[in-house]
Order: sequence, then structure tokens, then C-alpha cells
Amino acid sequence: MCGIVGYIGYREAYPIVLKGLQRLEYRGYDSAGIALYNEKELKVSKTKGKVADLKKKMEQEVDTSGTLGMGHTRWATHGVPNDVNSHPHVSNSGDLVIIHNGIIENYETLKKELTARGYVFHSDTDTEVLVNLIEDVIKKEKVKLGKAVQIALTQTVGAYAIAVFDKKKPNEIVVARLGSPLAIGVGKDEYFIASDASPFIEFTNNAIYLEDGEMAVVRRDKGVKVRKIKDDSLVDPYIQELQLNLEQIEKNNFDHFMLKEIYEQPSAITDTYRGRLLADEGIIRMAGVDDNLERFLNAKRILIVACGTSWHAGLVAEYIFEDLARIPVEVEYASEFRYRNPIINPDDVVIAISQSGETADTMAAIKLAKEKGAFVFGVCNVVGSSISRETHAGAYTHAGPEIGVASTKAFTTQITVLTLIALKLAKAKGSISNTDFHMHLQELETIPQKIEVALESNAHIKEVAFKYKDARNCLYLGRGFNFPVALEGALKLKEISYIHAEGYPAAEMKHGPIALIDEEMPVVVIATRKGHYEKVVSNIQEIKSRQGKIIGIVTQGDTSVRDLADHVIEIPDTIESLTPLLTTIPLQLLSYHIAVMLGKNVDQPRNLAKSVTVE
Ligand code: AGP
Ligand code: GLU
Repeated sequence: MCGIVGYIGYREAYPIVLKGLQRLEYRGYDSAGIALYNEKELKVSKTKGKVADLKKKMEQEVDTSGTLGMGHTRWATHGVPNDVNSHPHVSNSGDLVIIHNGIIENYETLKKELTARGYVFHSDTDTEVLVNLIEDVIKKEKVKLGKAVQIALTQTVGAYAIAVFDKKKPNEIVVARLGSPLAIGVGKDEYFIASDASPFIEFTNNAIYLEDGEMAVVRRDKGVKVRKIKDDSLVDPYIQELQLNLEQIEKNNFDHFMLKEIYEQPSAITDTYRGRLLADEGIIRMAGVDDNLERFLNAKRILIVACGTSWHAGLVAEYIFEDLARIPVEVEYASEFRYRNPIINPDDVVIAISQSGETADTMAAIKLAKEKGAFVFGVCNVVGSSISRETHAGAYTHAGPEIGVASTKAFTTQITVLTLIALKLAKAKGSISNTDFHMHLQELETIPQKIEVALESNAHIKEVAFKYKDARNCLYLGRGFNFPVALEGALKLKEISYIHAEGYPAAEMKHGPIALIDEEMPVVVIATRKGHYEKVVSNIQEIKSRQGKIIGIVTQGDTSVRDLADHVIEIPDTIESLTPLLTTIPLQLLSYHIAVMLGKNVDQPRNLAKSVTVE
């Protein structure tokens, strides 16, 4: 999710907030806005587009004076990017102003209740509901803003980093966090609020990082009071003295956005299934699928169109859909599909997968499918992107902005969404037992933590990378659900280290590629204990007998492959259909470290673009 910035003190707020939003630009966004209060009037200006567009609009339209202000760069989750849905949002009375990073999952229920009590909503966002809920609590409970925020948040479900002020009481800003980051910069008689320290590091290096479930009342004259949201108990805040520079902060202390995004996968997957995977109730809630369930269930086949990494996610989905939901699936490169005069039937369901939501070939494939009468469902990461608006329905991944050109968290969150759809259809068709359905839901909930475990092998993977950074070629092998992961691992290595790599079904080796094997050829083999493990072990033996160098991706505790391979990298055990979410992690890290050791530009590899909007 995107960025929040706030200021309360003795300086003019506008330049600080504006520059703070520019500093958060790296987090990606689709719209931006600022609210300022100068003891006389509240000024709110917001716009779809870039911070530069906001700057132009503000300086043309509003008096930018005032020592209280806050700004927001939005990464939309509810409501397309447009001026009205941009933040800040103002309550019905016009007194309260809010900015918010995150997702209020139960906003629809809250919105219904508030509407019944006469509240009017101008935007489609969950955030506007929250600011009016806070207003409603003030009116009903006759409490101050801080207490009202605390009460209101106990009624919400979801993730947030919020900042709220009341223009009638301009000496304080109230902030709170759960699941989204929030830092308070502690200056001398001035305070800063931000998603990270980059907006205020030039003014102070003293910061309070709120913990999840904490809130704070930040007063110009009395400083910061931190409380626990759940019981309003006081917390003694720890003021950190930051030793960071700006560059480090933007990458959250990671050397590259790609590495940051690899490490964001546990939270990205959690955000993606938040509000959709209700394991305790045994429910998967996805409006785009629920509203079109008959279309999916009556489909004779599902066509998946995508490019690059998204195509690999589609290939994983083929294995999952056919295994669980027993629906025939065909996965097509969008660039091929659009020109080969394909057979498309009106009862086909087409799933278009695209992180950026702007890939020209995928868009063209969608338009062709729609012309032929097929129902088209989108899986995108950018809310309001062209593809998400072109498809009949869809489900967003909530990976947050993916800045690194090499796609990582988009891949695993796409697989998460597609797995939820496959499980939902399998349940509806009765092609999976209740027990298996519940087991899949519970196991899916453990994946973020299991990815954390897989990430713990980073140092070991770096050592393996050092041994093979000068390889001229590399082979990636996998079977079943992990064949697409072998393709994805090869693509990662190719696109950031420029080493030629190929992915293959492990059993295909003997039909030609095995001629490539010698002591110069590193072979990455995905050999998890699930699936055709013994067959893969035989493939490894075939390679070893020809002096190939073997890097095995194995289930924790594996001994057979350990005895055969030159190196093994362990991942936690999980059910077979979910192994791609774990086996891809070491392959991402392996390619990352090799590329860094070769001095490549990891975040912007040569010849590549983050979104291929041309043919
Ligand atoms: C993957 O690492 C590449 N960045 C590229 O293959 C990418 O997946 C492809 O261009 C598709 O992009 P999209 O998901 O935004 O449509
Ligand atoms: N859920 C809010 C919205 O869609 C906030 C999104 C964000 O984190 O930027 O407006």
C-alpha cells in the first residue's frame, strides 16, 4: 500500500508534506492529495495521477498556508483511482480529515449501518467509511477524537495506518496502525507522521515506530501519547535515533527493490487473501467469482492468457484447476493467442493475468476473447489499470507496488488468487471433499510463515550463488506443479544476470537436453517430497552420472537428494499444490545474488521495462 505524511508544528506544513509525498513516490501510487489547516479554513486538494500533478493543482487552486497538514499517495484497493476516491477524505460534518494506508475489510457492513443513520458517501473507498465511523462515535459517545478513533478501530477488521485530525481542534493529529507501517518523527516542538522516515529524516532522526495495534495522539504542545487500541492502555514510547540515509529508507534498508519485494511476499500473500480466505468458517469470499459462479461452473474450459512471469503463474493454475476443480485449462501466451485465430467459444471463461494491468499483448487477447463472446476475468495488481477495467470481472492481488522489473511478489500473489478461485470452484462442483477443502484453506494460511522460513536460507543461497555466478548456462528442472516454477526460475536468472537458462520438465531431459550436461552445467532441480519425488531423484542420478552440478530444492529433512546433489536448499513441507509458493523463493534469491555478484542493474535490467505496453 502507499504513503502517508503528516506535519504539526511551527513551520509551514505544505512544503514538508509535499516533499514527503515525493519521497514516498518510490512506493508507487495512482493518485495523491493534501489537506492543510491554517486556523481559518480547511483546504483539501487531491487528484488522480502523480504528486507533480497534485503540486500543480494545489498551487493554482488553494492557499497553501497552515502549520497543520497531511498528505497521501494512494495505491487503490477499493474504488478506482480518480479524484473523488483519492485521499484525504473528509467526514460528513466537514470537520474530520483522514488519510489511510491499508484495507478495511468490513467497510461494506459499516457503510450500510452509517448510511442507515443518515451518512452520505461521495467515494467508493473503505477509508471514507472509517472517517464517518469516527465522527459517528464522537457524536454518540461525546468523546474526544483520540478516544473516538480508538473505539471506531475496535469495530473494524483489516489493516491500516491512519492519520486523522479535527479542524475544530487543530493542535493534534491522531494516528494508529495495524498491518501497515507508521513512524512518528519527533522534532523540537514539531512532529511528523509518515509511512517511513524518508519524509522527515532531514528534520529529525528521532522516531517512534508504532507497533501493530497501537495508536497515538500527537499534540503540538504536549508531545506524543501512545496507547493500545484494544484497551486504551498507555504505552511508554521508545524513541529510536535513526542512523539511516534517505536512499536506504526508500528501499526499507534493502539494497534493491527486488530483494525488498522478495521479502515482502509473506505480507503480500497475507494482504491478498485477507478478507477472502476465511479458513475457520470454511469460506472463500471473492465477489468477482461469486457474482459469476454459474459462468465458471458451466465453462467447458478455462483459457488463461498472460505473458512472462504471469504466464508462469497461469501454468501453475492449470495444474491446480485441473487437479482440484477438474475443469480443463489451456494456458496461452497472449502474444501468440491474439494472432493465431484461436477457437474461442461463448461458454469459455478466459482468465487474463497481469501485474501491471497494462501489457499490450494481454489486452489484445482480452479484446479478442470478448469479441467472440467469452467471459473474461482479470487478475491484476494495479487497481483501475486498463486490463482491470476491460475485463468483465476480476480479483486484485494486493501485493502493493512492485517496483523491481523482475516480478517476484506478483507471481506468488497471482498463484494465491488463482488457488482461491480453484478451491472455490472445486467446492462448488463437489470435486473436492470437505476435509480436503478445509485442509487446503488451513494450509494456505500457513504459507506466509513458511515463506519466512524459506527466506532464512538466504545466506546459504548466497554461498551457492557465488559458486555458480560465472556459469555460461543453467538448467532448471521441475515436475508437475513445479514444472512452471522451473520455467520461472530460469526466467529470473536470465532477465537479471543475463546468463542463459532454460526450464524443463525433469523427465524431458532424456529427450535431448541431457546432451548439454557436463561439469560446466549447473542444474537446479526442484525435488520436493511431494509429487513424483522418486522419478525426480532418478533424473538427478542421470545428471550426476554425467558430471552435472546439481542444486536441489528439497523439503526440509530430505536425505536422498542431499546424498546426490552438490548443494541442497531446503523449504518447509506443504501440500503438493501449494509447493510453488515455496519453491520459487530460493530461485528468486539465487538469481538475485548471482546478478548482484555480477554487478548487474538488478532493479532495471538492460533491455527490459516493468510494463510492456507495446507489441
Ligand atoms: C517478469 O519478471 C517480467 N518482468 C515480465 O516477464 C512480466 O512478467 C511480463 O512482462 C508480464 O507483465 P504483466 O504481468 O504486468 O502483464
Ligand atoms: N483502501 C484505501 C483505498 O483504496 C487505501 C489504499 C492505500 O493503501 O493507498 O483508498
